Amino acid sequence: MTSGVTDELLDAAIAALRRGGLIAMPTETVYGLGADANQRQAVESVFRVKGRPTDHPLIVHLADADAMARWASTVPAAAARLAAAFWPGPITLLVPVGRRIDRVVTGGRDTIGLRVPAHPVALELLRRFGGGIAAPSANRFGRVSPTTAAHVRDELGDAVDVIIDAGPCRVGVESTIVDCTRSIPQILRPGGVSSEQIEALVGAIRPPSGPSRAPGMLDSHYAPACRLTILPAGSKSDGAIGEVVDLSTDPSEAAAVLYDRLRDLDRRGVQRATVIAPVEAGIGIAVNDRLRKAAAGR
Ligand code: TXA
Ligand code: MG
Repeated sequence: MTSGVTDELLDAAIAALRRGGLIAMPTETVYGLGADANQRQAVESVFRVKGRPTDHPLIVHLADADAMARWASTVPAAAARLAAAFWPGPITLLVPVGRRIDRVVTGGRDTIGLRVPAHPVALELLRRFGGGIAAPSANRFGRVSPTTAAHVRDELGDAVDVIIDAGPCRVGVESTIVDCTRSIPQILRPGGVSSEQIEALVGAIRPPSGPSRAPGMLDSHYAPACRLTILPAGSKSDGAIGEVVDLSTDPSEAAAVLYDRLRDLDRRGVQRATVIAPVEAGIGIAVNDRLRKAAAGR
């Protein structure tokens, strides 16, 4: 297989999924903690291992856009258009959930988040598995998402049956989430696909609203133990508090290294740090969003 992942390892991951176990799978955004989306006990163990409230829905990963109709009660036109343009890719589409789908995976909601990831190993796994894989980011609730297999091992270790190590994730921040269930689509979480790219396809979208409709979008999230101060791109670091982490070079590069840099601060026991953010454009918007949440509330 690609990325140094053997067929034997993929077979072991599929066997683990079939018996209701948990796997860590690479995607282009972050590593996911995967379970068979059709097995209630397997999905429940995802919530348990993450320490995640059961009303925070999981994204179901699919091998291709055709599978969307099996999970949705209807496919809104905007969802069909976005899927055709950006899947496989870093965008999750919220659609009305199919009547026969167990609501454990949706946290009791009547909408479901679906995504076809753009990672050759994830796609091969999904194709061979044949079903949907429910997978949140493979970190404990409220903590920093993993972008390497070592991050997953450090944080979840024995709780995962099979960890597929395919190297570092290319994008580095989670997918853009677009709610396609209302007449005008809305971005609930900025990510690898920008609002400009989305508007070019579906027309004007609804601006972000007050209390987020995605329950995971808490003000404090993606948080290291280290206390962070965030400075905008272009700021001078003179007089900065603690260690300085400069992410102001290239936004894509900043996204790719963001979570490893945050984890590294904790690994080294750094108590205070100042991060210089990338510009708020393109994927830099997602990086700034995650930095604000990483710094909030503590
Ligand atoms: O890039 C990603 O999206 C990664 C990789 C593994 O695919 N996954 C990921 O999953 O970030 P997670 O669970 O860590 O974040 C998904 C967010 C959560 O805040 C969840 O509440 C929200 O999406 N979400 C999922 N389904 C939803 C739904 N039906 N309604 C509202 N929010 C939903
Ligand atoms: Mg997460």
